[in-house]
Amino acid sequence: MSDEMIIKTGEGKLVDEVYESPVDRWQHRVRGLVMLIVLAVIALIVIYLLWYFVSDHTREYSDIQEHFKYGSIGSEPGGTVLTPVGGVLPPYLVFKTLPKVCPDKLPGGYASLGLVFEPNHDMPIGVSRRWRLGVEQVGLNCAVCHTGTVRETPNSQPMIVLGMPAHQLDLERFFNFVISCSLDDRLTATNVIQKAEDMGEHVSLMQKLILSTALIQRLKLQTLEQQNRMGFALNPPIPPWGRGRVDTFNPYKSLQFNWNLRALPQSELIGASDFPSLWNQRPREGMHLHWDGNNTSVDERNLSASLGAGVTPVTVDHASLQRIHDWIWTLAPPRYPFAIDQSRSARGKAIFDQQCAECHSFGGGKTGTVENLASINTDPYRLNSYTYIFCVNQAALYPESRYRFTHFSKTDGYANQPLDGIWARAPYLHNGSVPTLLDLLQDPASRPKQFVRGYDVYNQEKVGFVYDTPEARSAGSLYDTSIPGNGNQGHLWGTKLPPDQKRDLIEYMKTL
Ligand code: HEC
Ligand code: HEC
Repeated sequence: MSDEMIIKTGEGKLVDEVYESPVDRWQHRVRGLVMLIVLAVIALIVIYLLWYFVSDHTREYSDIQEHFKYGSIGSEPGGTVLTPVGGVLPPYLVFKTLPKVCPDKLPGGYASLGLVFEPNHDMPIGVSRRWRLGVEQVGLNCAVCHTGTVRETPNSQPMIVLGMPAHQLDLERFFNFVISCSLDDRLTATNVIQKAEDMGEHVSLMQKLILSTALIQRLKLQTLEQQNRMGFALNPPIPPWGRGRVDTFNPYKSLQFNWNLRALPQSELIGASDFPSLWNQRPREGMHLHWDGNNTSVDERNLSASLGAGVTPVTVDHASLQRIHDWIWTLAPPRYPFAIDQSRSARGKAIFDQQCAECHSFGGGKTGTVENLASINTDPYRLNSYTYIFCVNQAALYPESRYRFTHFSKTDGYANQPLDGIWARAPYLHNGSVPTLLDLLQDPASRPKQFVRGYDVYNQEKVGFVYDTPEARSAGSLYDTSIPGNGNQGHLWGTKLPPDQKRDLIEYMKTL
């Protein structure tokens, strides 16, 4: 067609019968074909790039336990490549290689921080993978804080108990390591690629390009911002969380509201809380729960927890959260895995029913209500870290989404909780300040002043984890009850019982 036009206009020749030689015709066809191929290739490239940079997909696990351990709840960073939202961890390849990039900062690898690895998995329980916007990302899920391990003896294999508090996890050191190594000069694209390949990863050309051009630079900027916001909550003078604990609300104050933590009153800046268990949520619906009883809705507790893991309304995976919700709704507490003395336990039940059930049994008159601090007298810091002002601001979060909170309130004490599966919830109290049930039944002055947290060998006599052997000391972290927020005072119920009755009572509590 265009040839004809040129002939017509350019040379003014007679064009009624344009003569096309066989060669011309052949050239014509070839040109058409080339054009078609070029267009197809362009289309393929566009589709590929769209798939590469826009698609968002993750591994599906049909088994709910696998989903809980490794499935994505949407906490991996999302948004666009240039304007990321959410997420607290670096991309998969970086996350995987960090301990090799900064070996001096974490000689024992992630496992030494209490992250639990299973055979044939390169990521620990509680870390999910998701392809998002051109990069394989990782995120935290519920299992990282809600999965624990137990061993009978130092030589036994650990039992992994899903839904149990991650009493072995040092989340603060984990965050500090990730931040510090991400900002380390040794974290370069070349180094990450080399370490990843050393570890047997195939790094595609595209990923090498992305890592070298933008990703590492962006990661460093993002990490700097994260450090500016959260660094204060993660470092002295704020006391360390230690193993099995996280400050539930202070990191939110800066991450969600961009409050300057340095400007807040000292009295609300300490709030390290023990990880709780996740089982039996259905009978908890309507109860005032969280340690201070500040929320009555299981759904909102799930939701606020997922925000803590890095989920945002933009990145959330509703279907995934619903599966977890449905599972923990009826998840049964784990049975005590060791021997139980039945006659002791029967005697202990009578004591429990008389002195404890009112506050701690499903159906107890005060179970699920908040006990005034003056009556319980345990450490006040966690209660004070959740302030009225914070509560009011929480209500204003995401006003137009289903994320809106309507069940939070400021309380004046700690919640009377059901004690189901209590054997697996050691150490005890909201700040994890008392290592075993037997110690909780001692007068506060006689409870251990310092002990190790995070060792998973079980002490069947005291009911809790072993906390004072050399093995425990090398595996866990030292908990000092004299530090602000770590007080082990209060909760005097049962402390006046004769020693034999205390044994009966804790024998019974193994069966809960
Ligand atoms: C970063 C660690 C962490 C992650 C991740 C996490 N949680 Fe929690 N969760 C906690 C802590 C700590 C508490 C206790 C908060 C408090 O009262 O101070 C808690 C409390 C809860 C409670 C209330 C338990 C009770 O009996 O009061 C539920 C339910 C819960 N989490 C569910 C979830 C779900 C579902 C997820 C995943 C979407 C999740 N959590 C992820 C740390 C975590
Ligand atoms: C008047 C209500 C009340 C009575 C009675 C009571 N408790 Fe408690 N208990 C509480 C409260 C509130 C807490 C949470 C305190 C905190 O974490 O600071 C608690 C915490 C506990 C915990 C720790 C739970 C955990 O997950 O760490 C155990 C164990 C416990 N109580 C056992 C008992 C036993 C045994 C008795 C009876 C001898 C008893 N309690 C009587 C209110 C009560």
